[in-house]
Amino acid sequence: MTAVESRAWTPLDLAALADSSLDTIVSLQDPSGAYPASPTFSAYKGYSWFRDGAFIADGVSAWGGIDSATRFHDWCSRILVSRSAQIREIVEAAAAGEPVADERMLPTRFTFDGAEGADEWWDFQLDGYGTWLWAVVEHTGRHGVPLDRWMPAIELAVDYLVSSWRRPCFDWWEEHTEEVHGSTLGCIAAGLDAVAPQLAGDRALAARAAVLDIRALLRQEGVVDGHLSKWIGSPEVDASLLSVIRPLGVFPADGSIGAATIAAVDSQLNHGGGVHRFAADTFFGGGQWPLLSCFLGLALLAAGDRERAMDQLRWAASTVNPAGEMPEQVPDHLLFPDRRQEWVDRWGSVATPLLWSHGMYLRLAADLGLRGAA
Ligand code: BGC
Repeated sequence: MTAVESRAWTPLDLAALADSSLDTIVSLQDPSGAYPASPTFSAYKGYSWFRDGAFIADGVSAWGGIDSATRFHDWCSRILVSRSAQIREIVEAAAAGEPVADERMLPTRFTFDGAEGADEWWDFQLDGYGTWLWAVVEHTGRHGVPLDRWMPAIELAVDYLVSSWRRPCFDWWEEHTEEVHGSTLGCIAAGLDAVAPQLAGDRALAARAAVLDIRALLRQEGVVDGHLSKWIGSPEVDASLLSVIRPLGVFPADGSIGAATIAAVDSQLNHGGGVHRFAADTFFGGGQWPLLSCFLGLALLAAGDRERAMDQLRWAASTVNPAGEMPEQVPDHLLFPDRRQEWVDRWGSVATPLLWSHGMYLRLAADLGLRGAA
């Protein structure tokens, strides 16, 4: 019997868990505005990611945490503005045909005071800057918060992405730095598309042109068997690609690419509601990630399958521990069981709570209309 079957989660229970998820996130938010990825987990402690944080802020915003989301966007904005000289250098080097080395690109995570920190990480990832642009626009559109305070940072992020979106970089999972990843491209396209109406002159034209180019590249070289592929040229699927359908909306859930991508992830990576990252995943044995179950729920809901979207939310709810904390992954169905212990030895037990898991739960619960049910 799975955990989902062992407890009947009513809409009231599910909404109550969303309320407590919001409390968990807000209580752990640093005074700087940064969301820690996971407050005590060895390898993440003391750092906040643009990727995790943007999705967390979006979930928080969707569940009514206006001030918390605003403070996270302020934190991102301060980081970008403080790095304007570095961004200008990156943009100029790219324009001159001599792009800077990966080590001089923006990192993927920062300490709460905006520094790079002393710990080694697989740092060069472009997706978070696109996702941040998208999340900030979602937040302002949803709540009527003025965008102006973030425009200098938005313009810097746009210039950075327009100059560099074609570069290979690490994917969402810190892997395959030599590839150009479908979900990374999707995050960038979503962000540039979201902010384009706010931009002026050449910057607006460049952003719109990049969106068209990225979408064309994805359609022409980023699709295999009708679904988006893990990276350009890969035959595999990756659950991060669900985000490109929903909530990022680069391809509609009911279009051919959207439907085929949902179907591929559902059939290849979903086991009873719990979604794996990708078929070859050995991290902590390759368990099921509640945040990915929520992405699948969001995509199914966008495709019109509310019942299965609710099941996905219930599955994510079933992963909370007695303290109401959601982990990064659960070990009930491991792809590589004999690879789990090496990660426990290296990094300790699975990151719990993982704020991104709670953030995705909030966005799915909100889209399912559960707010106010508790
Ligand atoms: C994941 C990243 C995530 C980070 C912090 C890593 O293990 O691969 O996607 O951003 O943890 O949550």
